[in-house]
Amino acid sequence: MVKVAVLGYGTIGSGVVEVIDVNGKVLAQRIGEEIEVVHILDRVKRPGDKHEDLITDDIDKILSDPEVDIVVECLGGVEPAHTFVKNALLAGKSVTTSNKAVVAKYGPELIAIAREKNINFMFEASVGGGIPIIRPLNVCLTGDVIEEITGILNGTTNYILTKMMTEGAEYAEVLKEAQSLGYAEADPTADVEGHDACRKIAILTSLVDGAMLDFEEISTEGISKIDAVDVKYAKALGKNIKLLAMSKKAGDGYYALVAPFFLGSDHPLAGVNGVFNAIFVHGNMLGDAMFYGSGAGKLPTASAVVADVVELAKNLHNHIPVCWEDKPVKLLPKDDMVFARFLRVKASADKQKILDMFADARIVELADAAGEFGVVTGPMMEKALEEKIAQSQDVIKAIRIV
Ligand code: HSE
Repeated sequence: MVKVAVLGYGTIGSGVVEVIDVNGKVLAQRIGEEIEVVHILDRVKRPGDKHEDLITDDIDKILSDPEVDIVVECLGGVEPAHTFVKNALLAGKSVTTSNKAVVAKYGPELIAIAREKNINFMFEASVGGGIPIIRPLNVCLTGDVIEEITGILNGTTNYILTKMMTEGAEYAEVLKEAQSLGYAEADPTADVEGHDACRKIAILTSLVDGAMLDFEEISTEGISKIDAVDVKYAKALGKNIKLLAMSKKAGDGYYALVAPFFLGSDHPLAGVNGVFNAIFVHGNMLGDAMFYGSGAGKLPTASAVVADVVELAKNLHNHIPVCWEDKPVKLLPKDDMVFARFLRVKASADKQKILDMFADARIVELADAAGEFGVVTGPMMEKALEEKIAQSQDVIKAIRIV
C-alpha cells in the first residue's frame, strides 16, 4: 500500500483526493500496489466531508508519520509551503507540488535534497495545469537542444484576451465578468500583470538549460493596458492578441520576455483561445512541437499532480535525475531582442517623419479610431525602438508583433 498525505484541501488538493477516489483502481494497476490518502492538511475541520477523519491542522503529525510515502503540496504561495515541502523531503518522503511559486524560487534546492535522500521531487502541475510539459522536457526531449519555448501559460489572461477579441469589449468589463465566473481571482494582479506566466517560463527555461533562470530578472508586461482600440487594430491587421511567455537560446544564454503580442493567424499559438494554454517548443533536432490543453482548473491540474504521484510511487527509493542546478542561467539583455512593432501614433504627428523614423514602416488607418493612426514597423531592436519613441513624443503605445 502506497500512503499519501495531501497538504491543502482547496481547489487543487480536493481535486487530487477526488482523482485518487475516482481512479483508484486504475492507479493501483499502474503502480502495482493500492494507493491510499492517509492525511489531509487543512486549517478547518470539514464536518460531513467524506474524508473528514483524515483532516488535521498539524503538519508535524504528517511529517513524523513513518507510514507516509508521498506528500502532495497544494497549499499555494511561498511559505509555509516551501518549508513543509523541504521538511517532507528531509524526512525521506517524496513530494509533488502544483505550486509554481515554490518551484520557481526553490526548485534546485528541493531537487538537491531529493537527490541526496534518493527520493524524488516532482512538479508537473506547476506549469500548464493538466498539459504534460515538465516530464516531456525532462524525459522525452532530452535528445535535443531546446532553442525556443513560447507559451500561452496563463488561462485567466487568455480568457480575457479571447473575450476582448470576440466581443470587442473593454478590458475592465471582461475582467469583471471573468471574476464573477471564477476564472479570475478577486486580486487578479499575478495573472493580468504577467507574474504567473513569468514564473512558468522561468521554470521551463531552467529545466532545459539545467541552471536557474531567476524569474525576477525577466522583463514582464501584462495585459492590463490592452484596450478595445488595440483589438480593433489587431483585427484590421488580421492578427490576434496573446500574452506570450518566451525564451530563446542564443549561444550560451537566453533571451526571455513576457508581454502581450500581435500574432499572425499563421502562428501556431494564434488559435489557442479561452482558458486553454499551449506551449510551443523548438528543438535543434526535433524541429517544432506543440503541447495544448487545459492549463488550469481543479481536475486538469489534479490529474497532473496524480500522474506525479504514480511516478513517485513507482520510484519510491530510486531518484530520477532532474538537471536543474543552483547556478544562474545567462540572461541576455532585453535591449537586444528584435521584434516588429505595431505603434499607435497621435494624429497630429507628421506621417512622413514617422515613416522615415521606423524601418520598413507602413501606416494603418482605422475609420473609428479618432485622434490617432497606426503604424506597423519592420523588425527593430528593443533599445532602438525605445530611443525612437522617446525622440518622437507622438507614439501613444507600442505592441510587439510575431
Ligand atoms: N491563475 C493561473 C491561470 C492558474 O490563470 O492560468 C494556473 O496556474
